[in-house]
Amino acid sequence: MQRLQVLAYRSVIAGALDQQPLLSVNALKTPCRIQPVRLKTQGSVEQYGLKRFSTAEATVATRENGKMRERTLTMDTINPLVKAVEYAVRGPIVIKAGEIEKCLQEGVKKPFTEVIKANIGDAHAMGQPPITFLRQVVALCTCPELLESPIFPEDAKLRARRILQACEGRSLGSYSASQGVDCIREDIAAFIEQRDDGVPANRDNIYLTTGASDGIMSILKLLVSGQGRSRTGVMIPIPQYPLYSATISELEAVQVNYYLDEDNCWALDVNELYRAFNAAKKYCNPRVLCIINPGNPTGQVQSKKCIEEVLHFAYEEKLFVLSDEVYQDNVYSPDCRFHSFKKVLYEMGPEYFNSVELASFHSTSKATQESVVSEVATWRCSTWTRRSRPSW
Ligand SMILES: Cc1ncc(COP(=O)(O)O)c(C=O)c1O
Repeated sequence: MQRLQVLAYRSVIAGALDQQPLLSVNALKTPCRIQPVRLKTQGSVEQYGLKRFSTAEATVATRENGKMRERTLTMDTINPLVKAVEYAVRGPIVIKAGEIEKCLQEGVKKPFTEVIKANIGDAHAMGQPPITFLRQVVALCTCPELLESPIFPEDAKLRARRILQACEGRSLGSYSASQGVDCIREDIAAFIEQRDDGVPANRDNIYLTTGASDGIMSILKLLVSGQGRSRTGVMIPIPQYPLYSATISELEAVQVNYYLDEDNCWALDVNELYRAFNAAKKYCNPRVLCIINPGNPTGQVQSKKCIEEVLHFAYEEKLFVLSDEVYQDNVYSPDCRFHSFKKVLYEMGPEYFNSVELASFHSTSKATQESVVSEVATWRCSTWTRRSRPSW
């Protein structure tokens, strides 16, 4: 009963500060009566004892004379760069698709029976089951008591112990190094070396971020500068993944489009890169080249020769290359093979790998079971590797 009474007080305090001083709680069917809530202009907290007003509240109450004050954050005052951001994966087509889906569920007849949403690479939403091993490791790391439980397999326990060992205080709750937990970066370096047939990878060149999006946005932020014609131009493929146009718009950089060749399975033609670059030089300073390989939404996989041409172009034009490789484990055609930009750059020799600056990105959000388990990448992570020093 006492608890109910307290709840009743709370709801009155939250919802009706300036209401009746006395309320009976009929709903409770008890003789209890609620004490008056202190009005903003009335006596001391001690006198009423129900709700404390902060000094700030009291000041505002006096100054505003009870009127609602204007909000600081409104659609008119919001950062215009953020307002200009468009993120098509959540845009009007998706909203329309949601409406159509709802109509179908309500029994409206259409010439089709289901909506397949192809706007986003959301594997679980499309029915891909979660990766048990990863979830077990995460569960064990966040609740180490489970390490004693017989329901978790030994390999997951081994991995969790290794990760916890690398965390300060042996707890996942502690701050990690800004670059990410050491042993995870070590494992990722080992994966990259294995993937790239022995081309060396150094954990010091690997950064863990909360998804590839976060990594891509962080590095673009570092690359954008200048005013007017010296403003950084960022070359992106069209069609693109909208993270790029959104980030460019938010950073007020200049978007430089290069078009993929639809008639040639959306291949990247290096002549188109030169065309776009030369045209952009008239109004901005193109300094960054973004590549999505394998492509999204186009699905093309670049040949080794094509990557060499792109890297040569970046070398000639002094462009920083961002190679988005989040779909590297999703190549299905027997005629295609994924080649990492890092490996190809390395194989082009020291003249290239000592000059071309490259950051490449991967994410467990797109990986398949086999790849993730062997990579040991336990969280959604992206890696960006920078241009080669002696120990890649
Ligand atoms: C080409 C591409 N890059 C980056 C991302 C974002 O990856 P993450 O989910 O790790 O932020 C996606 C997501 O679909 C993508 O398709």
